[in-house]
Amino acid sequence: MHKHDLVYLTEDASHDAAIEHINEEAFGPGRHTRAAARIREQGPHDLSLSFICADDGETIASVRMTPVLAGSVNAHLLGPLAVRPSHKGRGIGRELVRIAIDAARRKGSEAVILIGDPPYYCPLGFERVAHNALAFPGPVDPARVLVVPLAEDAHIRLKGTIGWRK
Ligand SMILES: CC(C)(COP(=O)(O)OP(=O)(O)OC[C@H]1O[C@@H](n2cnc3c(N)ncnc32)[C@H](O)[C@@H]1OP(=O)(O)O)[C@@H](O)C(=O)NCCC(=O)NCCS
Repeated sequence: MHKHDLVYLTEDASHDAAIEHINEEAFGPGRHTRAAARIREQGPHDLSLSFICADDGETIASVRMTPVLAGSVNAHLLGPLAVRPSHKGRGIGRELVRIAIDAARRKGSEAVILIGDPPYYCPLGFERVAHNALAFPGPVDPARVLVVPLAEDAHIRLKGTIGWRK
């Protein structure tokens, strides 16, 4: 298996079953109850900003982006991000995050937000959101609420509730 067998594609409906499997494997059944999942239940993710990685035609990793209003910021919520265990540690997760942020920036998004591990995401450009500035529809650890600000004043306007937007 060589790195050049890997391709990164925009998600479409044909990837649904494989993505479901990847997320089940990575996060298990409890994944639907998490605060980020509650936002994602409010409306669909944006296929044009969601990506998969395929190895020799098999979908082995996925990142999804959901449009959210965070305070007054027109942002995107990144996640789930998951890579099949067989393909971890090859930079695929990092590359999917990079591609998703780039695509969001091109689409005019004002910020990319996620709930995740700072040691993984901060080297990829994420910063901590001010403590408890955003109210999620469920409990979150405020130290894990991270953002890539794409608009200059995004940090200032990230204050209030976060929820799905059209
Ligand atoms: C987290 C995940 C997406 C990373 O994907 P990946 O393709 O293996 O990651 P990359 O190859 O881009 O990066 C690997 C590096 O990240 C590190 N890393 C992985 N998960 C980490 C974490 N939670 N915290 C800190 N570092 C982490 C690895 O140790 C590795 O470090 P190294 O390069 O110094 O060896 C993948 O491990 C996964 O699917 N995990 C289960 C689901 C999950 O936790 N998703 C993220 C939700 S916050």
